[in-house]
Amino acid sequence: MKTIFSGIQPTGTVTLGNYIGAMRQFVKLQDEYHCYFCIVDEHAITVPQDRLELRKNIKSLAALYLAVGIDPEKATIFIQSEVPAHTEAGWIMQCNSYIGELERMTQYKDKSRKQASIPAGLLTYPPLMAADILLYKTDIVPVGDDQKQHVELTRDIAERFNKKYGEIFTIPDIQLPANGARIMALQEPTKKMSKSDTNQKSTIRLLDDLKQIEKKIKSAVTDSEGIVKYDRENKPGISNLLDIHSALSGEPVSSIEARFEGKGYGDFKAEVAHVVVEAIRPIQERYNELLNSDELDEILDRGAEEANKAANKTLRKMKNAVGLGRKRR
Ligand code: TYM
Repeated sequence: MKTIFSGIQPTGTVTLGNYIGAMRQFVKLQDEYHCYFCIVDEHAITVPQDRLELRKNIKSLAALYLAVGIDPEKATIFIQSEVPAHTEAGWIMQCNSYIGELERMTQYKDKSRKQASIPAGLLTYPPLMAADILLYKTDIVPVGDDQKQHVELTRDIAERFNKKYGEIFTIPDIQLPANGARIMALQEPTKKMSKSDTNQKSTIRLLDDLKQIEKKIKSAVTDSEGIVKYDRENKPGISNLLDIHSALSGEPVSSIEARFEGKGYGDFKAEVAHVVVEAIRPIQERYNELLNSDELDEILDRGAEEANKAANKTLRKMKNAVGLGRKRR
């Protein structure tokens, strides 16, 4: 059985972009693959975090993983910092990465621009992500479009390591969702929807009040043409709403366009809002039941145990290949 690994940072509340780009894929894949879904808290501290907020967000993300439909009987759900092999392997990966390739990462360029002093972890984040993936002999990494470059770098680092030290790593493939790989900000549809956007009206979060979600969609920036037609270049706002609708309802974009021919944006936005609210409502209901349950802690304990077992096996091989420590008799 092939193995899947993916992770989400517990920074702020998960967005509709995270849900459509990543989490929904996770739910579909768990029936066919051996899956690891990680809460990557060590990635989260590459930018400053409030400790209490971070703790809260870790638990909240775990509950959301379950609430969207990930089944802990089928998939391993765990917290990155509870599996120390990640940072150990991350260090070995760092020593096999080049500053030049790390500086070329788009996300590093974007995020470092926003910092007065740049934490070193922001630069060395991709080797840690490579460690996350490679420790589990991952075959496929389901992510949204913005993580494509990091997974490509993971492949490069793994190939380089294998060439130097022997066939230790499986080279992972990237898997983007068929539609919705890049959900855009509602107020600025040329930029991706992001957890860290300061404009609250741009981002739909899975735990937003449902009335607020409806309002945000109804006030999404569009254009003055009045035609519901997919055109990313010239009509990014309408195209984004079409992507969201189609990803959640399963209706092809062309069919939605056809149904709204001759109708205005008001009707279209109302329907998009309805589709989004009805997708999120059951998630919120399950989330509220799960958040403070003992069940959640038990699932995370079990997940950490399983992940430690698998990750330590690969880490041992890595250390051996590089020559760290002593040879045990
Ligand atoms: P993160 O936490 O920024 O995002 C989690 C997942 O959501 C996807 N995503 C989107 N998809 C569509 N539209 C959007 N607007 C949108 N915004 C985010 C991301 O592509 C991602 O799949 N570095 C990763 C976390 C990570 C990871 C890993 C992922 C750490 N180790 C190993 C995969 C494998 C990150 O910051 O994702």
